[in-house]
Amino acid sequence: MAFATRQFVRAASSAAAAAAAKKLTIKHVTVIGGGLMGAGIAQVAAASGHTVVLVDQSEEILKKSTKGIEESLKRVTKKKFADKPEAGSKFIEKTLKNITTSTDAGAVVHSTDLVIEAIVENLEVKNELFKRLDKFAPEWTIFASNTSSLQITQMANATTRQDRFGGLHFFNPVPMMKLVEVIKTPMTSQKTFESLMDFSKAVGKSPVSCKDTPGFIVNRLLVPYMMEAVRLFERGDASKEDIDVAMKLGAGYPMGPFELLDYVGLDTSKYIIDGWHSLEPNNPLFAPSPLLNKLVQEKKLGKKTGEGFYKYK
Ligand code: NAI
Repeated sequence: MAFATRQFVRAASSAAAAAAAKKLTIKHVTVIGGGLMGAGIAQVAAASGHTVVLVDQSEEILKKSTKGIEESLKRVTKKKFADKPEAGSKFIEKTLKNITTSTDAGAVVHSTDLVIEAIVENLEVKNELFKRLDKFAPEWTIFASNTSSLQITQMANATTRQDRFGGLHFFNPVPMMKLVEVIKTPMTSQKTFESLMDFSKAVGKSPVSCKDTPGFIVNRLLVPYMMEAVRLFERGDASKEDIDVAMKLGAGYPMGPFELLDYVGLDTSKYIIDGWHSLEPNNPLFAPSPLLNKLVQEKKLGKKTGEGFYKYK
């Protein structure tokens, strides 16, 4: 009997070890932040069959997020199911059924496989959230941040699950943009990294991997370029309209730098450059811009507030 028990314990513990070594198949996702990015992430996760809880600070914001998702799904469906409107309606219905909403992150993470954070780009606020959720989420749950510019390692250190923590950097607009940067810190386990890569593919994206370095790949190249455009305009060397036309027609970019800044959100861009400037104050590529700061102070944050460098109806 004792032998049988020992055998059983050994078999059970090796099964547990095998399970621990196996990557996690992500089925249930909690997205925190229902803004520009979070709503898009919730949409693509739900559209690919994951169950999603979308969390934000108020019911009013969540209503706006859900409405935005519905409208975006209609646009996607019009193209994807051009000849099959009935299948399109079913797809919308099924996707929306996969999404529920909540204003209490702590109460909804009890059985989630993956938490994706897409709240304001502020390290203290993000750390506070992760620290709190670490207490409520199960041991297996992977945490990921969609941050554009902050260190994933610093967020992971706010929790007790540094090995189950990584970056999942989606691009705006999420339903259209194919790229996800999957960020592996020195503490992220291989299993976690592979689960995040698989999840990115499962939601229809093409993942690339990068170490936890400022701006990862895309923003490290793109942000200094956009700031140079603002400086060119600030000096009066060219109008913002001409700079946008020049980069579209001369460099073949789909959007000019000012259109892109408005699209990304001027507050997000300011956070990024301020953060990098504090890390490297002598780097001229990371110098803050008085014009950008003024627009943010005036709450002209780009498309999302109806005005940034340009006005939107
Ligand atoms: P956003 O301002 O559109 O949305 C942020 C949302 O988070 C808001 O709805 C806000 O109410 C909510 N929120 C703030 N604190 C919260 C909390 N403690 N709990 C729950 N909800 C909270 O911002 P956006 O543009 O969606 O950015 C979110 C994150 O994604 C940022 O970290 C940003 O750097 C990153 N990101 C942004 C991109 C962009 O193009 N805007 C691209 C890639 C990443």
